[in-house]
Amino acid sequence: MSIGDLRKDGYTIIKDAISQDDIREMMKLDCFHEDNECTFENRLDVIFPKTFDDTQESINLGRSMDFREFYFEGGGVRAQQRFSSYTLTWDHFENSSVSKKISDVIKGEYPEEVKNGYYGQYCINMYLQGDFISKHDDGIVENRFCVVLIPMNNRPDEVDKFTCSGGDLILYPDSDNVGIQVESKLGDIVILDFNHNNVKHEVTPVDKWIRYSLVGFLFKK
Ligand SMILES: [Fe+2]
Repeated sequence: MSIGDLRKDGYTIIKDAISQDDIREMMKLDCFHEDNECTFENRLDVIFPKTFDDTQESINLGRSMDFREFYFEGGGVRAQQRFSSYTLTWDHFENSSVSKKISDVIKGEYPEEVKNGYYGQYCINMYLQGDFISKHDDGIVENRFCVVLIPMNNRPDEVDKFTCSGGDLILYPDSDNVGIQVESKLGDIVILDFNHNNVKHEVTPVDKWIRYSLVGFLFKK
C-alpha cells in the first residue's frame, strides 16, 4: 500500500516494505564495524540572534556530547537542527536487503534513473531527548533525484511510565501551513521527490524515547 503520489504530491509512503530482520541484517554490515572508533557524530544548526545578523551556522561537534551544554548555556542561541548522525559506506550497504528493497520500490517510481544506474549517500540519524529538525527543504543538488526516509524503530507508548511523544515527520506538500503527520513506523519507506518537487518537512522534538532513522539521498550516476 502506498500513500501520496510522488509526481503530483512530491512524496509517497510505502507501508510495510522493510522488516525488523532487514534492519538487524543492516546493523551487522561491515560499514558499522570496519572502524571500531565509528560512532554517531553530533550535529547542531544554530541561528544566532539579531545582534549577529541572524547568521546561520552548522556546527559539527564530532563525537563530543558537549553540544548539550553549548545549547543550554548559549542563551540566545536557537537550535534549528539537533541530532546525531552516522554515515554509512555505500559499497557495504549496497548489497544489504534494505538497499535491495529500496531499489525494488524506486524501480517503479524512477525507472530511468534505476536503469541508468544510481548510488546512495546513506546515514543513520539518532534523535535523543529534545532532538528535532525544524521545517526546511533539502535544497537542489545536481543529479540527486530523491531522498528515502526509513524509520528504524517504532515509538513506544511509554518508557518507565513516561509517555513517549514527538519524533513525527511532518510533510508540507501543498502549502507552508498544512502539514501531514507521519508517525515513525518501522517498515515504512517515505520518499521525497527532487525531480519535480522539493517538499518541506520537519521532525518534531522527541520526548522520552530515542528515534533512529535511515536517510538515503539517491543520485543518478
Ligand atoms: Fe531534510
